[in-house]
Amino acid sequence: MSSNKPTIKDIASAAGVSAQTVSRVLNHKPDVAPETRQHVQQLITDLDFSPSEAARSLVRQRSKRNSFIPGKVWNDEDGNPIQAHGGCILHENGIYYWFGENKDTPTKKNRLIGFNVDAVGVSCYTSTDLYNWKNLGLVLPAVKDNPAHELHINKIIERPKVIYNALTQKYVMFLHLDTEDYQFARVGLAVCDQPAGQYEFLGSFSPNQAESRDLTVFKEDDGKAYLLHSSEWNATLYVAELSADYRKTTGVFTRNFVKASREAPAVFKRQGKYYCLSSGCTGWDPNTAEYAVAENILGPWKVIGNPCLGPNSNQTFFSQSAFVFPVSGYNDAYIAMFDQWKKEDIGSSRYLWLPIRFEGEQMVIEWLDEWDLSVF
Ligand code: DGJ
Repeated sequence: MSSNKPTIKDIASAAGVSAQTVSRVLNHKPDVAPETRQHVQQLITDLDFSPSEAARSLVRQRSKRNSFIPGKVWNDEDGNPIQAHGGCILHENGIYYWFGENKDTPTKKNRLIGFNVDAVGVSCYTSTDLYNWKNLGLVLPAVKDNPAHELHINKIIERPKVIYNALTQKYVMFLHLDTEDYQFARVGLAVCDQPAGQYEFLGSFSPNQAESRDLTVFKEDDGKAYLLHSSEWNATLYVAELSADYRKTTGVFTRNFVKASREAPAVFKRQGKYYCLSSGCTGWDPNTAEYAVAENILGPWKVIGNPCLGPNSNQTFFSQSAFVFPVSGYNDAYIAMFDQWKKEDIGSSRYLWLPIRFEGEQMVIEWLDEWDLSVF
């Protein structure tokens, strides 16, 4: 070995492959045979190899993006696939924060939903341009050593949503917490003084004593916030007013889309009207998206139909809604985030981000192979 610190060349010669192959493994390129990949990864661990800062910055430059490519692997600035599923965006002082489920662990069988993964925790990435994302790691890791803990790796931690509470001056994270059999069905709460610090887990609650699985939160300009959650075994979507500190529900809530079985809600406000995009309930498998419009977030909601347009639009382009957010600095510009689940290898699930177009009050999400913010 040339020095104490192994280089890519050292790994390559130990593995009997080219330096290029090692680099392809490091950059998670798909075209490396699984046994070679495993062998190289093992040597990387055994020889304690870590890419130098120079190599990292080369990766960053090479992988700098200036467009969205829905459904393709989306690498972070270090060249690793982004792990932020079922996520949300928070925009603060010119920085976008992308929170989501880290599912970078082997997929296992699950009796109720076919497949699942051990919980890893909630990741956070930051960006100033929405194309290039820096990985800040886990802001709320799953708990490894206490099986009774609500965040233990054998539990379900899904759909993190973060909003800022001006009263307590805390960022508040809402989570769908569950047991492997999805019977727990509660809302997890975590708080932090900064958007991307380590979140303190506060425990869980049942909003208005009801079940809660897929969820999202919506914050009004005046600071009032609402929790939208699939309840009654996902048959009905509840909209529940949150207390001023966002830590509990107030008792004011409505039952919406009754027995229509909607989940994966994504809510936003445009020109005084509320829009709720959601999916049907078919586990990891895609189904038809639907959106509804309301004058009041508590309803009544008027179902309009499927906003998707283009190939496979009846199956939401083989994906499921996660979140919708307005793009800062653009007029009437909203991006819809979807998860394209790969149920047999959930950690390799992809993201689809697509622009929303409005025709009057009608919302259209049209498939694009590649696009950038100039569409707005
Ligand atoms: C659909 C939900 O929307 C996802 O978040 C996840 O819970 C899957 N079901 C599991 O099947």
